[in-house]
Amino acid sequence: MRLLSLRLIISLIVGITLVSSGFSYYEVLGEKRTLRSDLERRAALLGESLAGNVERSWNAGDKERSDRDLQRLVQRFGNREHLMGVVIYDQQGALVATTPELAKTLTVSPLVVTQAIAQNHEQSAFLKLGKVPVHILALPIRRKDEVLGGLAVVYDVSYIRAQSLLVWRQSFFRVVVQVFFIVLITLLIVRWSITGPIARAALWMRALRTGKISFQEVPDLAMFRPLAREVATMAESLSHARSAAETEARLRDAAESLWTADRLSVQLRTRLGDSHLFVVSNREPYMHWRDGKTLDVVVPPSGLVTALEPVLNACDGTWIAHGNGNADAETVDAYDRLRVPPDDPRYSLRRVWLTKEEEQGYYYGFANEGLWPLCHIAHTRPLFRASDWQHYQDVNRKFMAAVLEEIKNVAKPVVLVQDYHFALLPRLIKEKRPDARVAIFWHIPWPNPEAFGICPWQRQLVDGLLGADLIGFHIQSHCNNFLQTVDRVVESRVDWEHFSVQRQDHRTLVRPFPISVAFHDDQPAENNNHGLHYLERTALMRSLGVEATFMGIGVDRIDYTKGILERFLAIERFLEKYPSYQGKFTFVQIGAPSRTHIKRYHDLVAEVEAEADRINWRFQGGKWKPIVLLVRNHSHREIEPYYRAADLCLVTSLHDGMNLVAKEFLASRVDESGVLILSQFTGAARELRDALLVNPYDIDQTAEAIRAALEMEPEDKQLRVRRMRKEIKEHNIYRWAGKLITELCELRLDAPEEVHEKSRASVSVA
Ligand code: F6P
Repeated sequence: MRLLSLRLIISLIVGITLVSSGFSYYEVLGEKRTLRSDLERRAALLGESLAGNVERSWNAGDKERSDRDLQRLVQRFGNREHLMGVVIYDQQGALVATTPELAKTLTVSPLVVTQAIAQNHEQSAFLKLGKVPVHILALPIRRKDEVLGGLAVVYDVSYIRAQSLLVWRQSFFRVVVQVFFIVLITLLIVRWSITGPIARAALWMRALRTGKISFQEVPDLAMFRPLAREVATMAESLSHARSAAETEARLRDAAESLWTADRLSVQLRTRLGDSHLFVVSNREPYMHWRDGKTLDVVVPPSGLVTALEPVLNACDGTWIAHGNGNADAETVDAYDRLRVPPDDPRYSLRRVWLTKEEEQGYYYGFANEGLWPLCHIAHTRPLFRASDWQHYQDVNRKFMAAVLEEIKNVAKPVVLVQDYHFALLPRLIKEKRPDARVAIFWHIPWPNPEAFGICPWQRQLVDGLLGADLIGFHIQSHCNNFLQTVDRVVESRVDWEHFSVQRQDHRTLVRPFPISVAFHDDQPAENNNHGLHYLERTALMRSLGVEATFMGIGVDRIDYTKGILERFLAIERFLEKYPSYQGKFTFVQIGAPSRTHIKRYHDLVAEVEAEADRINWRFQGGKWKPIVLLVRNHSHREIEPYYRAADLCLVTSLHDGMNLVAKEFLASRVDESGVLILSQFTGAARELRDALLVNPYDIDQTAEAIRAALEMEPEDKQLRVRRMRKEIKEHNIYRWAGKLITELCELRLDAPEEVHEKSRASVSVA
């Protein structure tokens, strides 16, 4: 820093001096020019009037008298400002009359006078008389056309030099003062804006490195704030890397083989080799929303996003998804790509654009009014419209084009297609790129063949899916339902021993892969503290304007399959049956509005609100009410405190492929407390056997489960939560991805390797 200050001081001194000297130089030149021309003007005036007088007094006949007159004349003019004197010469240059000051110096006519006489024309010059700088104006003395002699008007010009010196001196003082203040101000700015913040940053970085403070505590580092944010992110990554390495070391010590993000990325690198992972889903992990000048990044409420984001973070793949944020288009590059997560980019997101009509027909129509109710046994009638089906096919083809574009230069790419939005995509991709390894994971249940059979396009859907090399479901019974459907719908050979389907020379494996969440075991020790959770709960309830001793939590998209209304009825029943809990138990329902362009979903939001209102109206009193309904999208960070503070979590889906809320709730219970009440119709119920399993249609049973949860012995709670946490820890999302991708990469493909080269030539991306 000293060196910087020294450099700044020297540069400022040199710079300011040079600039000021330049200006002073021109100022002095100007001043000189003005003084000289002023002098010349005065000399000319004097010379003119003097010459007239001299001409009149010059008497050629009487030389003696004439000389006397001329002498008197020059003496009369001799005492003007800066005028040294006046001299008169005859035609030969001999002195005729002079003021006494010049009598010794100008005895002979100077050249300028001789020239004026010779040329009969006024002349002037700046010269030196001895050491004195002078200005001489020489005029010819005439009578008629004859030149009688010359007149020299001599001014002392040493005052011009003195004036220039004065200007230089003033400039010097000005420069000194300027340099002083500019250097002072610059040094102060350097101190306030650079040296100070750097010193604070150094202290802060040391504290970060030694783990004395958290990454969130970013000091005010003035203009270094963007840098500080980057450093904080880097420190966070380093800290994660450090804790991952510690976990790995711990695991190695304990000879365990838990799946972690690092293990997954090592595994994927080994499995994928030179290849690359491509994930395709309808829902994108990050949406950009613009509201006026504000650009927000929104993480949509989606179990799929919760599950896949850590996988992509671990292996830097490409996620291809529908870009439906209103500012999505302004945040991509020329290839519709961007790197995400926005604050710590680790993988690529490729956005695919759909028209309003396509979105309406494919997403709202066929996928969510057709397939969704078809696959969920929740007693909402599926709607199958031919126009929606047409859009569904078109959009699947549009995504095929995007996938082919992305995998164009990748040999043996690994493509993971997600969900019921893309049943046709596996075959479309495999037809163009037989060398690609394609899996599809179906995130929702697959119903029995009778239920599925009402879909007019069941054959095309099953055929599209069978284009994949591997089809994944959450649980075995969904695999079985699918294989039975295949058996009935298309010409194929189902191998029940190996759970595969052989159709037209292509083999598809069908396997269960129970999806999960990222389980972080490295939470700070202070989280493992019951007292703290109590405080957190009190603060949360207070922030909601409610006072209650017990708290339950539910987190769902507002979807008719989630059994939110049944849940509210069970709460009502519980309060009816056990009135001592009135005034004490509050249930917080976080409900993210979802698919609200569909009437059934739109109406459901109103129904859920009305039902919460009705129950609250019936029981509420003072600062207490039974249900707090928060209808908006909440981030994971916002939901986490509710999970940690709740006495129980209610998951009452009428039918659910897996349900990750149940797993997230348990993953956040570092304190090994809380009770999970879980619908038996969720995929999660197969794994989380220590939850209180309920039939959500049985209102009384759920009400009883609420009482049991609130009155459960702490040891019992702990035992159950500990066992379920162990299950999730061992079967986390990294294991899910690791197993799925390993299985896919180990498959023997029907396609010969060189097909890729041929297909590259033939693929034309629409
Ligand atoms: O459960 C099926 C699913 O696609 C999930 O994977 C996801 O969490 C949820 O639906 C979200 O639905 P959407 O993307 O339509 O909001």
